[in-house]
Amino acid sequence: MNAFINGLPKAELHLHIEGSLEPELMFDLAGRNKITLPFASVEAVRAAYAFSNLQDFLDIYYQGAQVLLTEEDFRDLAMAYFRRLAADGGVHAEIFFDPQTHTDRGIPFSVVIDGLLAGMAWAERTLGVTSKLILCFLRHLPEDAALATLKAAEPYLDRLTGVGLDSSEMGFPPSGFVQVFTAARERGLKLVAHAGEEGPPDYIRQALDLLKVDRIDHGNRALEDHRLVSRLAAESMTLTVCPLSNLKLCVVDDLKTHPIKQMLDLGLKATINSDDPAYFGGYLGENWHQTAAALDLDRTDLIQLAKNSFTGSFLSPADIEGHLARIDAYVARSV
Ligand code: HPA
Ligand code: ZN
Repeated sequence: MNAFINGLPKAELHLHIEGSLEPELMFDLAGRNKITLPFASVEAVRAAYAFSNLQDFLDIYYQGAQVLLTEEDFRDLAMAYFRRLAADGGVHAEIFFDPQTHTDRGIPFSVVIDGLLAGMAWAERTLGVTSKLILCFLRHLPEDAALATLKAAEPYLDRLTGVGLDSSEMGFPPSGFVQVFTAARERGLKLVAHAGEEGPPDYIRQALDLLKVDRIDHGNRALEDHRLVSRLAAESMTLTVCPLSNLKLCVVDDLKTHPIKQMLDLGLKATINSDDPAYFGGYLGENWHQTAAALDLDRTDLIQLAKNSFTGSFLSPADIEGHLARIDAYVARSV
């Protein structure tokens, strides 16, 4: 089944580029930028990656991002991620970045985005992997800071596909970000939000009704509310589910009880994604392999998940059709 998964054309729709910073690159960049890390070795960094909830992880994730200073750093980070994605049979990615994590340290917005765009252009040229960029607002900061970030992004609106909402979920509901999401929508941007990873089903409802999102990131806790499940299914709302992330952040106890198979059976448009692969123990392929093995997913499930990753993407209808046709051709070849 792993060989079948590797060859299956796949897209990744939930990936924080700062979460793809491997400890090796963290040390390289710290050396290049003359920054002293609070860790003695790559092994010591990895040993610190034991989390019992989202906040545990976020504390170390924001600390790691401090080695990123220059445009080259952001480009190298993106290039490293795309190499891993391509090796797993990923052909398209819609990547999140957290500008406030960097601008609050004095790094200009342009340095961050120009570096990432350079890495994305390299991936398309060299690996044939396409990508889109989604700017995430940090929800533990005030909405005014999100509005200032959207303003800083004005010169780049043609190169941004959408905006998202990430960071600490509990206590920071979507209702606090209606103005900035409305402004982003008026500028033609797509909208996504993390909801229902740790937060209650009502946060998912708020993301739909108040922010008017096009996708829900995670969405696990929708399953606690039958009416919400029916609505998400009826609206074909894409859920960007992250199995290894859920395991590492204790959203689930065991991959064998991960709800993604149940989501598919309920008619929900679920996808498999890696979230922060350097921190959670696996890139896109590893998420697919471990989830398929733990839940005994069959070919029908896998094909559905691959198709969902494109129909749930922000690619053009023609590009989506092309990817779906490639999936069908691949499946026909690999009977
Ligand atoms: N949830 C919320 N914020 C995040 C995450 C996540 O899984 N990863 C990076 N920022
Ligand atoms: Zn995430």
